[in-house]
Amino acid sequence: MEHPHPMKDFLVRAADLPWVPQGSSNVWFKPLRISPATGSWVNLLKVAKSGVVNRHRHLAEVEGWVVQGHWHYLEHDWQAEPGAYVYEPPGDVHTLVADVDDPDHPMLTLFSIHGPIEYMDETGEVAYVETAETKLRRYHDYCREQGIAPHEIVF
Ligand SMILES: [Fe+2]
Repeated sequence: MEHPHPMKDFLVRAADLPWVPQGSSNVWFKPLRISPATGSWVNLLKVAKSGVVNRHRHLAEVEGWVVQGHWHYLEHDWQAEPGAYVYEPPGDVHTLVADVDDPDHPMLTLFSIHGPIEYMDETGEVAYVETAETKLRRYHDYCREQGIAPHEIVF
């Protein structure tokens, strides 16, 4: 059986990677690692304006590390600030709200996502499922549109 984990080390410099639009305006992701073999991915999330990121359910664990700015979930009673570590269990349903006062200081959070995300519509029906494969496709499509070479982030 093929080993799902890389057998070597990697260094990925965030500055070398583009901010890829994530559907809604004012939201971008920067992929650092995408692993279709394990179904997981690691990305920085940037939100430049106060607002809601679609309600979704995680089918596997998510870990977050807030780099800059503040945000909260409509469904939980805390607000995350720089330096905070966030853990979300499998099955967690939440709606991220970025609390951004200054567009020059966007919210930046590193998320390590261990499995698919089900985005829901207003009625709670699953509208779109994000996976390591769809994330990788978004990144590659964006690179092609921009005429830039994709970095080695698949491992
Ligand atoms: Fe989430």
